[in-house]
Amino acid sequence: MSRAARLALAAAAAAIAALVVGMIAGGTAFPRIIPGLPDAGVVVRWGLPLSKLLMDAAGVVTVGLLLMAATLLPNDKGVLGKSALDYVKAASWAALAWAGAAFLSIVFGVAESIGRTVPQVLDRTILTSYATQTTQGVALTLVVLFGVAIALFSRGAITAGAAAGLLVFAMVTLLPAPLTGHSSSSPNHDLATSSVSLHVLALALWVGGLGVLALHALRKQPQLEVAAARFSRMALWCFVGVGLSGVFALVARLGSISDLWTTEYGLLAVAKLVAFVLLGYVGYWHRQRTLVDLEAGRPKAFVRLAGGELLLMSATMGVGVALSRTEPPEFVLPADRAFELLGFPVPPPITLGNIFSMWWFDLFFAVVAAVLAGLYGLGVRRLLSRGDRWSWGRTASWYIGVALLVFATQSGLARYAQVMFDIHMIEHMTLSMVVPIFLVLGGPVTLALRALKPAARRGDRGPREWITTILHSRFTKVVTHPVVATAIFVASTYALYFTPLFESAMNEHLGHIWMTLHFLISGCLFFWVIIGVDPAPNRLPYVWRLLMLFVTMPFHAFFGIALMMMSGVIASGWYEQLGRTWGDTLIQTQRDGGAIAWGFGEIPTLIVLLAIAAQWYKDDDRQARRADRKAERTGAGDPELDSYNDYLARLNRADKGE
Ligand code: HEM
Repeated sequence: MSRAARLALAAAAAAIAALVVGMIAGGTAFPRIIPGLPDAGVVVRWGLPLSKLLMDAAGVVTVGLLLMAATLLPNDKGVLGKSALDYVKAASWAALAWAGAAFLSIVFGVAESIGRTVPQVLDRTILTSYATQTTQGVALTLVVLFGVAIALFSRGAITAGAAAGLLVFAMVTLLPAPLTGHSSSSPNHDLATSSVSLHVLALALWVGGLGVLALHALRKQPQLEVAAARFSRMALWCFVGVGLSGVFALVARLGSISDLWTTEYGLLAVAKLVAFVLLGYVGYWHRQRTLVDLEAGRPKAFVRLAGGELLLMSATMGVGVALSRTEPPEFVLPADRAFELLGFPVPPPITLGNIFSMWWFDLFFAVVAAVLAGLYGLGVRRLLSRGDRWSWGRTASWYIGVALLVFATQSGLARYAQVMFDIHMIEHMTLSMVVPIFLVLGGPVTLALRALKPAARRGDRGPREWITTILHSRFTKVVTHPVVATAIFVASTYALYFTPLFESAMNEHLGHIWMTLHFLISGCLFFWVIIGVDPAPNRLPYVWRLLMLFVTMPFHAFFGIALMMMSGVIASGWYEQLGRTWGDTLIQTQRDGGAIAWGFGEIPTLIVLLAIAAQWYKDDDRQARRADRKAERTGAGDPELDSYNDYLARLNRADKGE
């Protein structure tokens, strides 16, 4: 058996052994069976966590293989090399195992939830109703479908672009299960679900990337030092991501710090913390020693340490799955439906003071804002440190955009937006019409293209080349087409509020994240086309940009009026469950929401008009100066100016009757 196969087997054994020990320590291995209560039996008791571990492991391996192929191994002008092609093919099998494990989790999940044995639930109606009507069932079904899709598409992927697309798809496929796991029973379920999702994303890149790198080394494949150097840069951020998200996941589940040493759940988490610190030390040692040796052509130390590191990571994954199966410490939750839905009680009557004081931490968008602010700052710092200039106006605009994003998703506005439709509309309008204006005026793509170094190897794709490739891709050409960008911006608003979509989005944390991201992205797309300073495939003349703006704004007004005219309450099921006892009635807040949608558009329209005027003036001025410089250089006048002067001279002569 090859060394690579032996390492893979050892990693699987370490994960399963840690899962078994974790389940015994967590008290889920041999639970007390209460006579008369349904019990699914030992097969399900072990089958479910094992299938979940297999699902997590297969997801991590699929991500690792695609990451290696798309970004860690150099490619030639976007065409994958032999090793990379092998990894994409292997990803096809890993994705199939992923889908299979998710299907197994559905079968065991049904059996556990209705307390029946596996043979008793292998009935199409039972499985279909679980897979289509329970949140967990729908999530796992998505993993099955997406897993099969990745397996199929990987068969034909031969370019770095295709491998990168599959990598993004695989990262998205990691989310449904943790976003609907038992973390939704924690008091602050938004924090609980967001933290575990970010946790799984970061650890998939970290563990998956290291696993395939160790495999690559053991199979003595080429370009190991390049891939290892690239992975090492990424691994530090993954380490930080796994640690922070793990701690937030813990905070969302523990009632007090003492739960760490007084509960099984807490003790398992401590075991993970210890493993995490050890892994941090191993990473430090790689940077200090083994990567240096590897660079110098001595891979032995790196291979040995990476192998040990992978075993520790696999064992920690086993403990992680055992932890996700262990009941977190009991919380005394207020018997209040609103608290169950929101993770916080209905806030007191709304005041401006409450909007500015009742902040509610949203981990997902806090991370989005931190990444936007951090990357932009790093880019500006790099330009300035090498003596290049960058406009302070753009920097200020970017950080105003990020600050408004933080305010819209973290302040009392975000809290009240969940209980009042009109405040939700203010949040929607801010996220889709104000934040994007400031972000696109910040010129992030131009900054990235100026700050990032070209790839060290000719024809290879580093971050800079990836940005250029995406900018020139057919996808970008289509979505930035003015008609498409306008249609997405306008039609999606109607589609969201005049269909059951809005209520589902309000009911599910995943739905709420998607809705907020959609507001942001559709807004950025629309305003990029109109006032974006970054290069765009479809650059419109200024008159057309004005037209695009004036054509779009009435649709917002119509939307507002339609809301004001409606007799029924949108998402009534959601708002009625909250049982808000103060303020206006549901229909009145909806009408106010309509008025806001109608009136709010004026502010961004004014800002955009000013931006277009300024850009138009600057452009004209730039062209005039360019024409002057050309005239000076060639001595040839400006043909346009010359013909105009000729025309004036002819008029003059005509006046004089010559
Ligand atoms: C600072 C260190 C860490 C802390 C505090 C931590 C904490 C947590 C918490 C609270 C959960 C959620 C469990 C639940 O659903 O109730 C979790 C899940 C998990 N953790 Fe960690 N973790 C840490 C590091 C790691 C590391 C280093 C790995 C692997 C290399 C890991 C792998 C996992 C896995 C696989 C899950 C299950 C995810 C799922 O639901 O599918 N964790 N972790």
